[in-house]
Amino acid sequence: MYLHPNLICKNLLGVINLEKLVIQGGTPLRGEVNISGAKNAAVAILPATLLINGTCRIENLPNISDVKLYCDILEQLGAKIKWHSSNEITIDTTNINCKEDIVEITRKFRASYYLIGSLLGRCGEVQVGLPGGCNLGARPIDLHIKGFEALGATTNITQGNIRATADHLVGTSIYLDIASVGATINIMLASVLAEGTTIIDNAAKEPHIVDVANFLNTMGANIRGAGTDIIKIHGVKELKGNTSYSIVPDQIEAGTFMLAAISSRGDIIVKNCITKHLESIIAKIIEIGGHVDANGDKLRVWCNKRPTKATIKTLPYPGFPTDLQPQMGVVLSTAEGTSIINEGIWESRFQYTAELNKMGAHITAQGKSAFFEGVDKLVGAPVYVTDLRAGAALIIAGISAEGITEVYNLEHIDRGYENIEEKFRKLGAKIERTIE
Ligand code: EPU
Repeated sequence: MYLHPNLICKNLLGVINLEKLVIQGGTPLRGEVNISGAKNAAVAILPATLLINGTCRIENLPNISDVKLYCDILEQLGAKIKWHSSNEITIDTTNINCKEDIVEITRKFRASYYLIGSLLGRCGEVQVGLPGGCNLGARPIDLHIKGFEALGATTNITQGNIRATADHLVGTSIYLDIASVGATINIMLASVLAEGTTIIDNAAKEPHIVDVANFLNTMGANIRGAGTDIIKIHGVKELKGNTSYSIVPDQIEAGTFMLAAISSRGDIIVKNCITKHLESIIAKIIEIGGHVDANGDKLRVWCNKRPTKATIKTLPYPGFPTDLQPQMGVVLSTAEGTSIINEGIWESRFQYTAELNKMGAHITAQGKSAFFEGVDKLVGAPVYVTDLRAGAALIIAGISAEGITEVYNLEHIDRGYENIEEKFRKLGAKIERTIE
């Protein structure tokens, strides 16, 4: 049998296995789903704990592999972690070994770049492995580096590693050429314990930026303006911790289930979500003929007919999020008429369209635009996941399609969605994880 290079994964014993999701499509989703804590907040809040000289309790932590990997890194650095449940931990960062070599472990995933900001703040020195480009295209960190250097750090990139050092970080004004989520958070982390005030101009405004700032403020930081494009960080001497923090619900996971309801022509209640964070998605769902009814932290989402075409451009928050673009692409692949999606953030986020075409979609992707000529229905096929959100999209496609879909390369999906097949099963989807 031919093995797709990305398809081979090893279990804990090192044995090669082929995990896949087998989906029998065609069931409209019905019932309730509970949204977990936000992945992109969690992978910033975990390194932020390194700035605390003490303990903190984190609740509503998503049970995903990126979180587990971050906990491994923190433990390697000397943090003590106590698991109260799969979603709640206490971290004690009193004793951190600033000299610990974390180059290899940090090379494994992108969000390890937040250790540069947090360890610069805690230790005044840090070296991490630089993750390369990824399936979304080039992912430079020049704006992060510009911020660290403006605060007084020296950075060097050699042999695929970045080393940053600073005797003393001093607050300053930093203008970001692009409203980068990662650079905004990383500069915030580096400046929390710096001397004086740091101003980030043209800051990103995503909900997880506000969540990281709220977490740091709960621990004793003085950050104002998160959620606007100017964030002011007044440096404090230390973060004391000794308190607990609950991570914000995952806006992208909520949007994923909302779009799955529309695509499968279902009727579901999405629980534990913040409606405000979902406004751009709600607006598009209504525009294409779906229905949304908000009630506190619950959203009823339903669709009983074929959606109509749309034009979408992904933008930084509060625009339509790039992380829901593939899931929306599935919806538009069976909408009436021809839809257009322009990807405004990443240079290469249409790889999933080739997989959808295997399922009978008619999509032409050219650079940062894709044209979705709506078809009546999708038909099940074996498909390969290229990144996290492409994975969510292919599951939605499988649930909505006629016949059986096999989804491979599940490690991408497990990075960022908690119990995804169990949540879909509870909504009536016929979906099983098997090992070949
Ligand atoms: N950019 C630069 N230089 C930089 C930083 C970014 O040119 O120094 C560019 C990027 O190449 C991109 C744009 O700026 O074109 C925006 O990148 P941003 O820094 O905002 O993205 P990120 O922080 O690397 C986070 C999420 C992504 C999400 C983007 C956009 C995390 C861990 N990742 O990435 O999430 O797509 O923001 O909202 O928070 C996902 O969850 O599937 C995912 C990819």
